[in-house]
Formats: sequence, C-alpha cells, structure tokens
Amino acid sequence: MNGFSTRAIRAATRAPRVDQQPNSVPIYQSVTFSSTDVDELAEILTEQRPGYAYARIANPTGETLAAAIAELHGAEEGFVFATGMAAIHAALLSVLTAGDRIVCTRAVYGSTRSLLANVLGGIGIRTEFVDATDLASTEAALAAEPTRVLYVETISNPTIVVADLEALAKLAHGHGAILIVDNTFASPYLCRPLELGADLVVESATKFIGGHSDVLAGVAVGNRERIARLRAIQTDTGASLAPFAAFLVLRGLTTLALRMERHSAMAEALATWLERQSGVDRVYHPALPSHPQASIARRQLRLGGGMLAFELAGGRPAGRAFIDALTIPERTASLGSIHTIVAHPPSTTHRQLSDAEIAAAGIAPGLLRCSVGLEDLDDLLADFAQALEAARDAASTEAAPEVTGAEPAESAEPAAAVRP
Ligand SMILES: Cc1ncc(COP(=O)(O)O)c(C=O)c1O
Repeated sequence: MNGFSTRAIRAATRAPRVDQQPNSVPIYQSVTFSSTDVDELAEILTEQRPGYAYARIANPTGETLAAAIAELHGAEEGFVFATGMAAIHAALLSVLTAGDRIVCTRAVYGSTRSLLANVLGGIGIRTEFVDATDLASTEAALAAEPTRVLYVETISNPTIVVADLEALAKLAHGHGAILIVDNTFASPYLCRPLELGADLVVESATKFIGGHSDVLAGVAVGNRERIARLRAIQTDTGASLAPFAAFLVLRGLTTLALRMERHSAMAEALATWLERQSGVDRVYHPALPSHPQASIARRQLRLGGGMLAFELAGGRPAGRAFIDALTIPERTASLGSIHTIVAHPPSTTHRQLSDAEIAAAGIAPGLLRCSVGLEDLDDLLADFAQALEAARDAASTEAAPEVTGAEPAESAEPAAAVRP
C-alpha cells in the first residue's frame, strides 16, 4: 500500500464523475490536466487535437466563456483574457509588427491611447490619431501610407462619440486594413460589430458583461484564423483569465440583456432630464436626438446604453462640487456596474492639467462622465437635483475660469490620462 501522502494526494485530487449536467459551469480550478499517454499530451500541446494540458493555454471554464461570447457576437470564435487591456494588446499584436502603421480614432480610451503611443510606439509601430466621425479625413489618413489596422470604439470613453462602423469597415477594407472595434460601452446586447463589417472585436468584460464591479476580464471575437493568431500571442504573453473570474463573467452574461435594458432606460431618462436643468450646458447620450451621431446610433445600437456625459456651465468648481455632493453614486474609477459611478476627470485623472490643457484634450472643465447603475431612477434624479444645486452654488461663489468651445468632441485631442 502507498504511504499516507501519496494516498492523500491521489484521493484529494480525483475529480468526481458527474452523469447529470450541472446548471452552472464548474470552476475548473486546476492548472494542469493529465493525458492518458505521452502521445496524447504531445498532440494537445501542439494543437493537433483539442484538449487541456496547462491552464495558461486553455481552461474549460474560460473556454466556455469564450464560446458563449462568440455565440452572442455571431462570431466563429472567441478568446478570453485577464483584462480588457490584455485583449486589446493581444488583438493588436496579432496583426502588427515593427514598422506597421495604425489609424486610430482620437475618441479612444486613455490606456488604449497610451498602449498605442507609448508601448507599441516604442517598438516601432506608428499610430496616427484621426477624427473617425470625419470619414473623408479618416480615408485620407488610410490612403496616405500602407495601414494595417483602423481602430475605433463603438461608443467612446469618455466622450460618448458613436463610430459609424459600417462606413469605417468599408473604408478600412478599401485600403487594405482591418477594422478592430472596442465594443466595451455597448456590449454584444447593444451592438454586434462583426455583422457591420468589423474584423476583430475586443471588450473589457470587467464592465457591462461582468456587470458587478467584482471581476476583471477581457474578450475578443473574430473568425477562426484571427482568433488562432490571438491565442498564440496569449500563450506567449500570459494574461490568462482565472477560472473563478471566468465563472463570474459567465454569471454576468446570463443577465446582460436585462441589465442593459435597465441601464439604457435609466441613462436615457437621466440624460433627458439633465438637458432641461439650468447650469447644464451639454448632455451626450446616444439615444438623445441632440447627440451629434444620433442617426448612426439609431441604426447601429439596439438601445442608447448606460453611459452618458454632461458639461456643467460652472466649470471645474461646479464639477467638483457636484461630485462631492452626490450621495448615491460611487466616487470611483470604473463603469458598467450595478452602482452608478460618476467621474469628473478635471478634478481627478486630469487635475494636474490647466483648463486650457484639458480643453485641448477634448474635455470641458465641467465635464462629468456617468455610468448609470441599476438603482431606482427617482432616487438618482433627487440626488442629481441636489448635487446640481451644490454645483450652481459653487459656480456662483467661485469665479470659474471660462473655457468655451471645449466640447468633448471627436475633433479634439483625446484624454490622455482618462483611465477606467
Ligand atoms: C473602452 C474601454 N476599453 C478597455 C478598457 C480596459 O478594460 P480593463 O480595465 O478590463 O483592462 C476600459 C476600461 O475602462 C474601457 O473603458
């Protein structure tokens, strides 16, 4: 008979046989998976047959999530990552090498901009930032030099610019480039960019897909060949999604439609109400008729989504007073959660910049970005009403420096420092 430790190790790691289908996906908390013989192991490791060997390469819980996301996007295949940034990084590296060129929308998430400008820029991949709502100038940038990738966000962070994916896919393909779309603000419930011509779609599943601010994850979907290239990058760079994280995202996915319906209805109601309040200069939400890309949004998005942005007339002091007066929303950095989260970039991520500098970054001093949660609308309206009063008081007691023409527009430089 074997000794105690040998018996303990074998007895305590013997997975049960389960003949009935569990109703949630098990968390396969195992880094290694044993093959029956060395040939099987070799074939799995060299991808000659499907199977599991080492969890950095593949884990059943993560693969279940990847397949679910792919199905919801109408994609041939999907792949999952530890974070949204890891998905974006792998997607870009799966198509780019030193000397290549990207054309990217200026209305892009700050870390993506930094990845392109600093990380990929540092290894000889050049990015030209354009106003992707101006199709003529985007086409001119694509035509100027050979370009591998056109990169945009379905709805941009933080300025809520809506990209015309169908038109941009045609432009990209006409110039030999592929279109990569970050669909984080929309989620597959609001938009399926592959059906509009995109070649690869990436999302931070940390946001609406996970939906509860309790898990970091990223996803990418596309055709079999593109996802195989992405998988190869991931195997060697290693931002693997942990099985428990995959389980949480799978659970989020089951209620994504319900949550997006409510996020969208709440955000639209709040945006409509904000447009009528004194002290509010501009409101940006894709479902508002006043949105600069309202007709594209109507065509391309099932609903307006849970993200909105608005500018307070009183500039920085008003924005700061507004956010400090709120009692329901969380003062934090993320989005796409059960909680309403309000961010005032000029007094947080951009506080070191002058009003002129943040205006150059496309951000008005009184700009607030709001991720509308799932609380009761009347409670949020009452809270926003009292916070607006605090903002108006702050604006009248402090002489706020006036910066005009600082719409968070796609034509302005993007917010270099805006993070989640
Ligand atoms: C549009 C967008 N893309 C990507 C990311 C990165 O996601 P993660 O924090 O999961 O890496 C974020 C984060 O806020 C985002 O807003």
